[in-house]
Amino acid sequence: MENLKQAAAVEAAKFVKDSMVLGLGTGSTAAYFVDEVARLMTEEGLSITAVTTSFETASQAEKLGIPLKSIDEVDHVDLTVDGADEVDAELNGIKGGGGALLMEKVVACYSRDYIWIVDDSKPCKQLGAFKLPVEVVTYGAEQLFRIFEERGYKPSWRMRGDERLLTDMKNLIIDLDLGVIKEPEKLADELKSMCGVVEHGLFINMVKKVIVASSEGIKILE
Ligand code: 5RP
Repeated sequence: MENLKQAAAVEAAKFVKDSMVLGLGTGSTAAYFVDEVARLMTEEGLSITAVTTSFETASQAEKLGIPLKSIDEVDHVDLTVDGADEVDAELNGIKGGGGALLMEKVVACYSRDYIWIVDDSKPCKQLGAFKLPVEVVTYGAEQLFRIFEERGYKPSWRMRGDERLLTDMKNLIIDLDLGVIKEPEKLADELKSMCGVVEHGLFINMVKKVIVASSEGIKILE
């Protein structure tokens, strides 16, 4: 599995060019891409500036000597490469397994190009087997939780140890156990319209390419 994640990351690095502003995703697969970017800088002399999608990725990139800027300090992002938790045939997906969906979505929204790197366990027919993360402000979060219960969305709090996880943006995450999401766009609109919801993990019509690594090799979905 680790080899596949790395293979997808190495393939994505082929789209990196000198002087790019890169968006660096979050998670175990994206971490291989961050390593690869550092390698391109040190071994191939590429000059890169990066924007990160979590404190965790920022810490990895800093240790590797990748120059970082915040999303507010750059006038554009050329390319963002990130992992995903599920991806369907329309290249819609679920993200946020690592709790970074808000920053991931913001960076992706302001990127000219956007690629996901996944191993072959991530493609699926219909989204929803992976619990859908919803990032909510702390104030009124219990009200949202109750509404999700009433709607049959089987909510659970994202925990870290015995405590509710606070995201990098100081919000909470409620994971929805939906089984199958028949109408992702409708659900995305519904969640976005709820008071206190900051963002959800449905990424619809956002990604341009998905690099899938399997034991048979690399496949690029677009
Ligand atoms: C973090 C994410 C990750 O990209 C997603 O969870 C995939 O992670 P991994 O590559 O470790 O399977 O959305 O919020």
